[in-house]
Amino acid sequence: MKTVNGFSKLSKNDKLTWLSQNMLNSAEIEELKNFWHPNAELQKTIDEFSENTLTNFIMPFGLAPNFKINDKILHVPMVIEESSVVAAASKSAKFWLNRGGFKTKIIDTTKVGQVHFKFYGDKEKLFNIFNLKKATLLEATQDLTANMEKRGGGIKDMVLVDKTQSLANYFVIDMTFNTCDAMGANFINSILEKVAHDFVEIACSENYFHVSEFEIIMSILSNYTPNCRVKAYVECPIEELGQIAGLSPQQYAEKFHAAVQIAKVNVERAVTHNKGIMNGIDAVILATGNDFRAIEACAHAYAARDGQYRSLSSCHIDNGKFKFELELPLALGTIGGLTSLHPLSKLTLKVLNNPSAADLMGITACVGLAQNFGALNSLVTTGIQKGHMKMHLLNILNQLNASDAEIKAAKVHFEKEIVSFKNVRDFLDTNRSLH
Ligand code: MEV
Repeated sequence: MKTVNGFSKLSKNDKLTWLSQNMLNSAEIEELKNFWHPNAELQKTIDEFSENTLTNFIMPFGLAPNFKINDKILHVPMVIEESSVVAAASKSAKFWLNRGGFKTKIIDTTKVGQVHFKFYGDKEKLFNIFNLKKATLLEATQDLTANMEKRGGGIKDMVLVDKTQSLANYFVIDMTFNTCDAMGANFINSILEKVAHDFVEIACSENYFHVSEFEIIMSILSNYTPNCRVKAYVECPIEELGQIAGLSPQQYAEKFHAAVQIAKVNVERAVTHNKGIMNGIDAVILATGNDFRAIEACAHAYAARDGQYRSLSSCHIDNGKFKFELELPLALGTIGGLTSLHPLSKLTLKVLNNPSAADLMGITACVGLAQNFGALNSLVTTGIQKGHMKMHLLNILNQLNASDAEIKAAKVHFEKEIVSFKNVRDFLDTNRSLH
């Protein structure tokens, strides 16, 4: 394939023409266009979320109903393409509905940013001047922080850290923030850049150092926000778990507990276990227009905080009680960014009762926990494939162009049969040959 120059400068139609000249036929171009939104103004907004937009890639937007969270019922929108995820979340929500529901606790909401720089002068003097000028530096951010401060947020602290043990001449200014209901990326990055600039300027113009002693490398928020953390949990007396798949409540609780313990000590299992948690978390994050890459990166770093990657959830069996909990960092926002721009994010937030960012942290953690509960529940009882393949049946039938009547017949047939691509194809072939 040849390269293309100036692609971003072409109009959307010209971009599609280029595609039609190089990769796709006209029917395929039409198929891309079929996903344009009929409301041109809305389509323009969506186009502008990104660069070189050609069309929209649609995903299912569903609802996991009946989550009891801190004694209130919520129905949670989820955007996800994996067939069994919403079903599993809904089933877990229903299971816990009459067993006390989900509870949440916000541990903290601190966000983080860093100015990374090299310094080639007298270290001790650097710390002295930083501490001497700290108040001035903070004062100088007033224009940037005034609005956030009115809402109860702002800069929490700022410390200089010597990193020269890990990298020659490397220092960092670690800053912490409260960004209220905003994700706060622009707020944080603007402040960091100002602090970086002002520190060098003040230190040099007042002749403490020479400008050649500093090299600002970069100023950027950190997506590692271990203190922006929430805990979600469910608990009930073991006997209330009931008889599950032929297991007594005690046997079930112990097997479930063992499955979580395995994910605490076995990396291969922990990654899959946490992936199951992220199935639920990402789906809520997408629906609310938050940044799932940031949440993913942070969650996995947090899962490996003691040097080994481990399960994010924990299970406890104490005094006849079963407790299952998930604690993880979730730096989310409910104002600003895509949350306010994407029309479906706005609706998601409305369905969720317009939560604060802290409320959304709790809701999202509950869905992650529900997802994990659903997966482990299947894994330690029937096995995962039964439910998965049941949900996947429709995908296979659609792939094989099954008619409505065939879908109906297949659903009945596969109630008791093993779903596999081959079995579904054989079923359709047999059925088709009979008609
Ligand atoms: C599949 O998307 C997620 C699971 O593999 C999670 C798990 O194994 O715990 C079912």
